[in-house]
Amino acid sequence: MTDPKLLAARFPKDFLFGVATAAYQIEGATKADGRKACIWDAFSNMPGRVYQGHNGDVACDHYNRWEADLDLIKDMGVSAYRFSIAWPRIIPDGTGRVNETGLDFYDKLVDGLKDRGIKAYATLYHWDLPLALMGDGGWAARSTAYAFQRYAKLVMARLGDRLDAVATFNEPWCSVWLSHLYGIHAPGERNMDAALHALHYTNLAHGLGVDAIRQVAPQVPAGLVLNAHSVIAGSDSAADKAAAERAHQFHNGVFFDPVFKGEYPAEFMEALGDRMPKIEDGDMEIISQKLDWWGLNYYTPMRVANDPTEGAEFPATVSAPPVSDVKTDIGWEVYAPALKSLVENLYDRYTLPVCYITENGACYNMGVEDGEVDDQPRLDYYKDHIGIVADLIGDGFPMKGYFAWSLMDNFEWAEGYKMRFGLVHVDYDTQTRTVKKSGKWYGTLASLFGGGNLG
Ligand code: FCB
Repeated sequence: MTDPKLLAARFPKDFLFGVATAAYQIEGATKADGRKACIWDAFSNMPGRVYQGHNGDVACDHYNRWEADLDLIKDMGVSAYRFSIAWPRIIPDGTGRVNETGLDFYDKLVDGLKDRGIKAYATLYHWDLPLALMGDGGWAARSTAYAFQRYAKLVMARLGDRLDAVATFNEPWCSVWLSHLYGIHAPGERNMDAALHALHYTNLAHGLGVDAIRQVAPQVPAGLVLNAHSVIAGSDSAADKAAAERAHQFHNGVFFDPVFKGEYPAEFMEALGDRMPKIEDGDMEIISQKLDWWGLNYYTPMRVANDPTEGAEFPATVSAPPVSDVKTDIGWEVYAPALKSLVENLYDRYTLPVCYITENGACYNMGVEDGEVDDQPRLDYYKDHIGIVADLIGDGFPMKGYFAWSLMDNFEWAEGYKMRFGLVHVDYDTQTRTVKKSGKWYGTLASLFGGGNLG
């Protein structure tokens, strides 16, 4: 079903179709108006960390081009925008002095969205931790959670009257495991103990952030964005099935269980609990406050098998081979049914509020030819995955909206500018934006919806 009108007919009228970005990936202007360095400024300037030493200094220059970019969203026909706020613009040292000029930027941005009739979905933390906080240990320090709470309060006091929804964190899996255990993202640590500290303090910061939101802007629906992994056992063997359950606990459960059940998963705690930081009285209550919504970021399944190595560290799994031979240019398996089984599985395990797909999309790196970008494989990816969301609605799951990742090509973290996820192509030499074939298709679909209300 490629006709966007036929696909649109499968969604309720108040469904929300939006586009997503994140501050460090698009803004540039990293030294402007009082902003100081974040961990990604430092990390991307360390040799060998990011593809060809790319960094966010200029990115899509969105800090200077935001009005044209909002016009672009409007012209595409999209009525919701998910963006993140840069902590290092607001409190440049993480603690201490507040930089009002940093808040002014997001004030203008949100007004600009309202002027254009576009709903504003803000994320408070999309990985740009103020570098100065690394002096205290970054996310491995409990004090960072309280610094985050203060930052959240400041942002919500200024913007809360105009936001349609807010998320505390984007993908804590990345800022915890990928950043502190696997060493791929800033700050690039490879240390289980540091990662376990980052885990609990990130969860705590989420809870303290929800507190902050409820104190200063209780009318704004508060949520959390998780990149839940669609874990699929590599075979039907008991060993692989047990491996899949361990993988669920390690990759999903350590975030879902505290937030939605008020505890850490049992097997995970048996294996690694003695290396966790002290869980203070009241922490789990703070973390498990009821949320108004949650966001799911989904791209690709995670296939796992048992790791037979003697003494392998929890979760003791290895990768199992992909089932589909279709892969995007970043090498991720394309397999839409895993989105369906993931949502089913999570609603089975947990009592979850309404769900937004806060990111979904595909990396294809084709460029502009004769003024056009023919990215049919990306269009196909969107068509199939949005079709799955329609199926889920048909089955009664509370899916309220869908945000495409991403509005435009941008700084793809450790992959630099090489990997392109945009509906809009960006020429980084000239900053020219060209709406791709997929962007035109998605805009036609999105324009058939005015956007729903959460509150
Ligand atoms: C997600 C991130 C987002 C983007 C996409 C491709 O993990 O949240 O910033 O990099 O992947």
